Amino acid sequence: MNKTKFQNGYLIRFNLIERIQHIILFVALIMLLLTGLSLSYYDSWFGRFMIDIEGGLESRGNLHYFFAFVLMALGVFHAFYVTFSDKGQSEIAHMKYTKKDFRNMLISFRYNFGMGKATPYYGRYNLSQKFQYWGVIFGSVIMITTGIILLLKVWKIAMLFPKWLWDITNLVHSFEGMMIFLVLFLWHIYDVHLSPGVFPMSRVWLTGKISEEELKKEHPEEYDEINKDKSGEWKIDGNI
Ligand code: HEM
Repeated sequence: MNKTKFQNGYLIRFNLIERIQHIILFVALIMLLLTGLSLSYYDSWFGRFMIDIEGGLESRGNLHYFFAFVLMALGVFHAFYVTFSDKGQSEIAHMKYTKKDFRNMLISFRYNFGMGKATPYYGRYNLSQKFQYWGVIFGSVIMITTGIILLLKVWKIAMLFPKWLWDITNLVHSFEGMMIFLVLFLWHIYDVHLSPGVFPMSRVWLTGKISEEELKKEHPEEYDEINKDKSGEWKIDGNI
């Protein structure tokens, strides 16, 4: 069994492979947003400025396709990771929604509106973290599917498809791109870096480590499960 100990009050939450996947994901998403939105707003100062930086229209397109390939390769790798590795299987199992998530959500609403004193008893992931994970998965599936259809048009393949299909695909790809931008910058960045308690930045994405204190506060159920084992060891394929 794979075991990790608390070391100097810290616990490894994400291993190196997971941290690298996260870094590749956000670099690819940021590059896709910059190169994509500069096309959406090509007639504004922002679009012209970005297209210049990106080396002109053609090079902007090539950059977009390169990072699209990175995103697709990452998706394939991630699917293998959560299907075949012990840690990946354990992580995906913790991403499943359960009845407890909805009970915690009600407790959280009651607490935030000053209607109750109880605080939610979150496990390894809270409802919002699960929502963000599945949002990235479904969002990427939509962007990749619509992106491939748009590529067929760019490459002048399949011109037999009706025009309405290109129009709808373009709309979905471009609005979903804007939505990803808003979700990333208004929600995710606030949630994990800027909110009180973590400001100016949570380092978990970089070091993979979470402090005992943070674990106890943010993921009390996981903390209690770990402490059931008096040896202070964390059973990766057991009780996380
Ligand atoms: C989260 C990932 C992605 C984001 C945020 C994104 C964003 C965008 C945006 C905003 C546009 C401009 C649409 C418009 O207003 O005309 C665009 C265009 C386009 N995207 Fe993406 N995209 C992503 C992934 C992909 C993928 C995976 C592919 C291919 C498999 C792709 C292929 C294209 C193509 C072919 C175009 C139109 C032509 C061009 O840019 O040269 N995109 N994208």
